[in-house]
Amino acid sequence: MDKLLITGGNALHGAVRASGAKNAALPILAATLLADGPVTLTNVPRLRDITTTLDLLGRMGARLIQDAGDRISVEPRALTSCVAPYELVKTMRASILVLGPLVARYGQADVSLPGGCAIGARPVNLHIDGLRAMGAEVTVEGGYIRARAERLQGARLVMEMVSVTGTENLMMAATLAQGETLIENAAREPEVVDLAEFLKAMGARIEGAGTDQIHIRGVERLGGADYRVMPDRIETGTFLVGAAMTGGRVRVTETRPDCLDAVLQKLRDAGARIEIGPDWIELDMQGRRPRAVDIHTAPHPAFPTDMQAQFCALNAIAEGVGVVAETIFENRFMHVPELQRMGADIRVEGSLAVCHGVAGLTAAPVMATDLRASAGLVLAGLVASGETLIDRIYHLDRGYETMEAKLLTLGANIQRIAGEGRIPSP
Ligand code: EPZ
Repeated sequence: MDKLLITGGNALHGAVRASGAKNAALPILAATLLADGPVTLTNVPRLRDITTTLDLLGRMGARLIQDAGDRISVEPRALTSCVAPYELVKTMRASILVLGPLVARYGQADVSLPGGCAIGARPVNLHIDGLRAMGAEVTVEGGYIRARAERLQGARLVMEMVSVTGTENLMMAATLAQGETLIENAAREPEVVDLAEFLKAMGARIEGAGTDQIHIRGVERLGGADYRVMPDRIETGTFLVGAAMTGGRVRVTETRPDCLDAVLQKLRDAGARIEIGPDWIELDMQGRRPRAVDIHTAPHPAFPTDMQAQFCALNAIAEGVGVVAETIFENRFMHVPELQRMGADIRVEGSLAVCHGVAGLTAAPVMATDLRASAGLVLAGLVASGETLIDRIYHLDRGYETMEAKLLTLGANIQRIAGEGRIPSP
């Protein structure tokens, strides 16, 4: 397994481009199953989770061509299988996103139950309940969700909890249903809006994406489309936190400043000077130590849970005490014990992490446990004195495109060590 070796102490300076958003590209790739015309996607990030999704769609018979850059062409053709097998779904729970499109387009889907993951149980009851409300016969047996429907019927769906992929699955299913669907208590994340824009480019009739009420009028077919995936707001936020923690000055380009209000406000509260352009955000910490901030994660437009680990790392070295409340997932503080190994003074009490900022962290061998926890550990390594070795960074590779290369351009002292201990050739 690859590792990252980081020698802390360098302030980050310079500009870095945001890649396409993983959490928009994944549902959009699943949505290509609905198309009966050619689809071309650009700004698709080169990530492990994208590769897994391409494998999954390819296994079902879809024909996808990924070029050497950020473009993926999909040639729609009748699938040879509507099964999402366990061995793929267990590596990426977002595979559940093929459920809605398969039932809507092919009337059937056998999708392995994703099971839990490091950050929580992550049930999919809302996805299943919504499809049942739209007339699908859904059974769960042998670890698989088996869904069948002549044709889905539009329905009024009131989501018991705000669920991002639950909203996305049901919105995709509703595009080809008979009649109208109203999703209430819908997720408002920008990635839900990006998916809706792609579906509309294919001919879907959707209103209200980005609000908590999404109205979909079913159509008979969806054609092809060319679409550019939105930039990754969590990657953007991660680099900005790195600049704040190291006292540097970083501009993230080709990003969406309008998707990060809650995060930018917390960075301002931490003492950062932030400038915003049409497609860029610049953070200047002017060499200062950040102030601790209180964080309360919640559905968009509130503070995103996917930025929580990064702010635990910031609070670890900030001035003062910051209380981090994680309200979305029940086990999303796995980065804390690793940060404690580096000298952080953080105490977890249920869904709260109380962070007493220390003047500095000390490098230590640490282990990544999940995608965003690994990002938090990288940020901590950037400021720790000495060499931090982060193991199991395949977690990081799931959601960050060439993170170490981008950090190198910003002046970080970081290198990837290939699994067998060799330093890979550049
Ligand atoms: C999406 O996961 C993101 N993944 C996650 O990003 C993100 O953390 C999460 O939304 C919250 O913003 C993708 O978009 C691929 P949820 P999702 O359904 O959709 C409960 C990352 O790091 N729930 O919004 O799986 C659930 O347990 C990943 O990029 C049910 O109880 O999250 C959680 O407590 C991690 N039943 C809450 O709702 C359901 O049927 C929100 O989960 C569905 C969800």
